[in-house]
Amino acid sequence: MRVLVTGGAGFIGSHFVKRLAAKGDEAVVLDRLTYSGNRANLEGVEHEFHHGDIADPEAVAAAGTGCAAVANFAAETHVDRSILGPREFVHTDVLGTQTLLEWARESGARYVQVSTDEVYGDLEPNIRSREDDPLRPSSPYAAAKAAGDLQVLAYVRTYGVRASITRGANTFGSHQYPEKLIPLFVTNALEGLELPVYGDGKQVREWLHADDHCAAIELVLRDGEPGEVYNVGGEEFENIEVTHRIVELTGVDAGLIRHVEDRAGHDRRYALDDAKLRTLGWSPRHSFGETGLTETVEWYRANRDWWEPIKSGEYREYYERQYAHRLA
Ligand code: DAU
Repeated sequence: MRVLVTGGAGFIGSHFVKRLAAKGDEAVVLDRLTYSGNRANLEGVEHEFHHGDIADPEAVAAAGTGCAAVANFAAETHVDRSILGPREFVHTDVLGTQTLLEWARESGARYVQVSTDEVYGDLEPNIRSREDDPLRPSSPYAAAKAAGDLQVLAYVRTYGVRASITRGANTFGSHQYPEKLIPLFVTNALEGLELPVYGDGKQVREWLHADDHCAAIELVLRDGEPGEVYNVGGEEFENIEVTHRIVELTGVDAGLIRHVEDRAGHDRRYALDDAKLRTLGWSPRHSFGETGLTETVEWYRANRDWWEPIKSGEYREYYERQYAHRLA
């Protein structure tokens, strides 16, 4: 199958391209190569590459030629950046999604929208989000993703586009841009820098390995029902527990941990009920608590040449804006 992978040079997208290539499927990548898109993520991997924006109909049509399916990984994804500047999120996550849907409508391609558990908003202990729960996004990022999901469902109902949605938990693994909790804290620890924990650090996230996330997306692309949403869950941990594990695994002093000013509108907990996906035959193969985090830390330790160049230029400016006042 020839598959259009938008955002294929990003973190989860590049894991997906590798998965398709390993199975002999043809991956066509469309990526705007914004700050977190990185062609080095696809080094040595068979694929066709198109540089462009998913909100540009011509770029989508050119890249999509001959593709029977599209998996949409292209998105602005970082909550903290959405608080600093929400507009880009609406451009890519809403208008970009609608542009891709229009192409799928014209071409008849199968469509999978890679979405997030953040669209459900935060949860009390002991509750898990199900696919038909109301959407209560908290951040500009989550609101943009929720709007994208609603576009997908409207295109299914109104135009019969064969689209499904996956809503994944916090994803970890190699090649993740070092602005997210795990790669930020691991690379900071390896550089002897402070680990800025927002608030009390008792917020809960579910952790899902990138390969398990991609296996779920591929399964939904092949066997999912149009118009259906599938949650992809992970293992629950408090941020402070993850932080202490990173301190142990990198061998740094726990004195590097700094509790800093909280994120505005910070969701306390996400948790997914993914029984529906499991009935399609999915189950995770990587355990975060047992080996997943350890292997990820090892990858960052062994691949400084991947992340050191990233932690300069635009990254430094962002880091200053986001953390300088918190760490002062
Ligand atoms: O849940 C799925 C979502 O997971 C994805 O849709 C998002 O694209 C992805 O960014 C992630 O969102 P989070 O906001 O949960 O991820 P992040 O790595 O930014 O933060 C994880 C938790 O760690 C969150 O509670 C905030 C906290 N945190 C994060 C950073 C960057 C800190 O305490 N300090 C930090 O410096």
